[in-house]
Amino acid sequence: MSELDGLSLPSVAVHAGRTDLTDLGVHAVPIDLSTTAPLPDVSEARDILDGLIEGRPLPHGASTIYRRAWNPTVARFEQAVAALEGHVPGGTPLDVEGVAFASGMAATHAVILGRVAAGFPHVIAVRPLYGGTDAILETGLLGTTVTYAEPHEIGDHVTDRTGLVVLETPSNPTLELRDIADIVRQAGDVPVMIDNTFASPVLQQPLRHGATYSVHSATKYLGGHGDAMGGVVVASPEVAQSLRPIRTIVGGVMDPFTAYLMLRGIGTLLVRMREQQRSAGEIARWLADQPAVARVFYPGLPGADPDGLIGPQMYGPGAMLAFEMAGGFGAAEKTCRGLRLITHAVSLGGIDTLIEHPASLTHRVVTESAQPHEALLRISVGLEDPADLIADLDQALRLATS
Ligand SMILES: Cc1ncc(COP(=O)(O)O)c(C=O)c1O
Repeated sequence: MSELDGLSLPSVAVHAGRTDLTDLGVHAVPIDLSTTAPLPDVSEARDILDGLIEGRPLPHGASTIYRRAWNPTVARFEQAVAALEGHVPGGTPLDVEGVAFASGMAATHAVILGRVAAGFPHVIAVRPLYGGTDAILETGLLGTTVTYAEPHEIGDHVTDRTGLVVLETPSNPTLELRDIADIVRQAGDVPVMIDNTFASPVLQQPLRHGATYSVHSATKYLGGHGDAMGGVVVASPEVAQSLRPIRTIVGGVMDPFTAYLMLRGIGTLLVRMREQQRSAGEIARWLADQPAVARVFYPGLPGADPDGLIGPQMYGPGAMLAFEMAGGFGAAEKTCRGLRLITHAVSLGGIDTLIEHPASLTHRVVTESAQPHEALLRISVGLEDPADLIADLDQALRLATS
């Protein structure tokens, strides 16, 4: 039983990871910068360390030993993400834990490495994927072999060496929605990793649909301000326990100040997402009417959700969108150059609106045959007035087509 049980998602977002602050006599989350911690006697310290080596959460009040193994501020962030990912409206929360990393890629790497180390090096992946995730699989850097499959073909590719199914929903950059429960069913005993970065846990909770791992680039919506880099995996306690030793040994840990910023970001995640999503819908509908635009990708547009996943799986279409310029690469490049309010930059999920050209940047490392369209631009919609964003896009599209 936790203090958060029975609360609705907005209240959990504000209070998760902070429930003990009143008892501590503080209001803001304490940042523990210690790299080492005073030890009790040697035998007790050894027992604590043995627990950490096995990946168990640190017992309350125990010495943290060493920051690469445990940090209390990072643990608060982990509790908060787990509380959102495991939240069940009006029901008992899922028993899940978060494991934070130095970046989204460090989080994804730990999931893959864990499966390879367990003796299952074959991965089935659904494209498109963020370029870094695609590359970590395609290069075989971690000892994997990969089969890229369509979502409905996953079951056909499972072998006794398959250790993981990897996909994004919505996908980066073209925002396809995938039916998590169907993919879990096809995967059978093989764990499914959903990159939940684009949705964030306030719009989608993959573990509720049977996924084994929900992974985030926390650099995006969780932090929300473009000033903190991190990653997090949410999974059952048993699976989380298998990931912590990888993190401790490899050392891809989140730093405590980042965890503080991430936790602060989570407090406003729901209201940010709600507003950004509303603006994204307006912008997507406006773009769809522009002669300079050949095609718009946004899960909230008619026909973009053929499996009816918005509602049952994803509570809303989110705040990411993409569009193809009718005038090809040249028009896409000119559009980016012409924008004044919207910043031409990679990354996403922050309070300000960003635009980028996936084929040149975020997906540059993807093998040529699987690259995004050369005229595709991706927008992360921020908190500006959507009328100002549309005015900016309008003048940039005019410049691009004049
Ligand atoms: C969907 C998705 N997953 C993972 C990552 C990697 O995250 P990070 O840059 O925090 O390592 C990104 C980065 O853009 C992303 O867009």
